[in-house]
Amino acid sequence: MPVSENFIQELKMRLDVESVISPYVKLRRNGRTLKGLCPFHNEKTPSFTVYPDTQSYYCFGCGAGGDIISFTRSINNLDYMEAVKLLAQQAGMDLPEDGYDDTLGRKRRRMYEANREAARFFHRALFSPQGAHALEYLKNRRLTRDTIVHFGLGYAPDSWDALLVHMREKGFSPQELYEADLVKKSERNGRTHYYDNFRNRFITPIIDLRGNVIGFGGRVLDDSKPKYVNTSDTLVYSKRHAVFALNFAKDHCAQSLILCEGYMDVIALHQAGFTNSAACLGTALTEEQVKLISRYTEEVALCYDNDEAGQKAAQRAIAMFGKSPVKVRVIRLSGGKDPDEIIKNHGKERFRALYQGASNEIEYKLLRERDRYDVQTADGRRGFLEAAAGLLATLDPIERDIYAGRLADETGTGKDAILERVKQLSRTVKRRERAEMERMAERRLLEAGSSKVNPERAGNLGAAHAEELLIATLAANPEIYASVRDQITPEDFTTPFCARVFTTVCGRLAAGAAADLSAFAQGYSDEEISEVARIINLAQRGADPRKVCADCIKTLLAEKDKRKAVDPSALSDEEWYRLFRRQ
Ligand code: UTP
Ligand code: MN
Repeated sequence: MPVSENFIQELKMRLDVESVISPYVKLRRNGRTLKGLCPFHNEKTPSFTVYPDTQSYYCFGCGAGGDIISFTRSINNLDYMEAVKLLAQQAGMDLPEDGYDDTLGRKRRRMYEANREAARFFHRALFSPQGAHALEYLKNRRLTRDTIVHFGLGYAPDSWDALLVHMREKGFSPQELYEADLVKKSERNGRTHYYDNFRNRFITPIIDLRGNVIGFGGRVLDDSKPKYVNTSDTLVYSKRHAVFALNFAKDHCAQSLILCEGYMDVIALHQAGFTNSAACLGTALTEEQVKLISRYTEEVALCYDNDEAGQKAAQRAIAMFGKSPVKVRVIRLSGGKDPDEIIKNHGKERFRALYQGASNEIEYKLLRERDRYDVQTADGRRGFLEAAAGLLATLDPIERDIYAGRLADETGTGKDAILERVKQLSRTVKRRERAEMERMAERRLLEAGSSKVNPERAGNLGAAHAEELLIATLAANPEIYASVRDQITPEDFTTPFCARVFTTVCGRLAAGAAADLSAFAQGYSDEEISEVARIINLAQRGADPRKVCADCIKTLLAEKDKRKAVDPSALSDEEWYRLFRRQ
């Protein structure tokens, strides 16, 4: 343990699990526990459970679990010591500075420093004589000086080593710069040469939610290719997780976030007053980005480019946000290919109108269907209405009525006829949904029986249940430790994982310490800790712990006998003969 047990216990005394988790998850009290939407996977019904009693959490949807330290680690992508540090700060505790290995944390902090210094260098270069043409380019794109300063835009000089030289003067080694992807390297004649990654481009820094510069995008100043050079993944930057400008947008987007494709769109939107916009940089939205975004907003207004690729990306994004609690609207762009162009050509009011008129999911899908058919012809109308009825079949009766009315007006068809067809189709939809639910339930059942970290669980459910309940009851009732110890040993356990957990719990209780999740910080993987979080919350309230343990122990010993019975080496000759020879 790199930091003392007492320190961790003190930390946990000062910060309760609810206060650590609630800034990230909207929790609703439910008896002795709290529930919310899991921040670690996308879901619509809450399966993330917080247990104040054991100061832990567990998600029944994805199996993530642990204590305040595991939570802080996972949610912020930190290692153990970094999480302890962050929590200590929140608790107002001083961390003993020496005596632990903080190599990774130090490396990360160093990389943040390097990035910040590089951002400063680029920014200064933009306003120096060598950056004059870049500044001119940005001005031509109608960016004001305020905007340039707000986003910290910069210019990477047209040189192979301008940044390299500057950063070496500031004490950064080429290897450090290489790891931050600020420079590239090549091998020539057995020697390593380093050179600047960004050259003659204007630079947009990417800043995380805590204000760290984590990477850069560099755009050419003309039509040459590639248009952008971006920081590849480093210790502090992960393309899958980053959402550009969310650091600026996060305080303005509680109700609605405008999500676009590129740097320039977001910058233009912010300048025009739409400070609730961000970008997923490129078109491939990831699940990690969806998760992050859904922590900050109720609704996403997709604002993808007005081309085939953009529309495809929008459809994909609709499907992905469909698995999250975030509502989706789609802004249909007209008068330009992207928001930047629309604002430049027609002004921000034009964009505001498009934003306000953004269709909700169903309207958008209806529009897409209409584009596929020629509604001037009878055949085209029929095809369109059939497709539209299929979409309406997924809605509730009131919504159906509204859209059927609109469709009737639009196509000159009777509203009742449309509604009738919707009803027919909805039966099929319901049947399909029911089948899907059944499939999911089956899968959940299967998964409930199996456990990655405890593979023996599935084949020994009876024993495993007893083992888990015994562990939970013991951990919650340290006073019965002596009596349990006299009745059972880890060797009596059927599943090796539970035997190991039991050993750890006993070790703690024997030393007079609490058997909470900090006991598992060492020697257990993240997945194993998650599983322990599930187990220790199984203790039943109101039941007599001695009685519960006695029952569990009885089951365990019986299971052990059964195991012996099928293990031939444990049988007497006579038993063996009886079992295997007699039919
Ligand atoms: P766009 O081509 O729409 O770029 O790509 P843009 O930022 O709007 O630039 P302008 O308006 O032409 O100047 C959208 C996003 O896709 C990523 C960038 O993040 C860009 O902002 N992209 C695009 C790349 O990473 N590399 C590329 O070569 C092109
Ligand atoms: Mn653009």
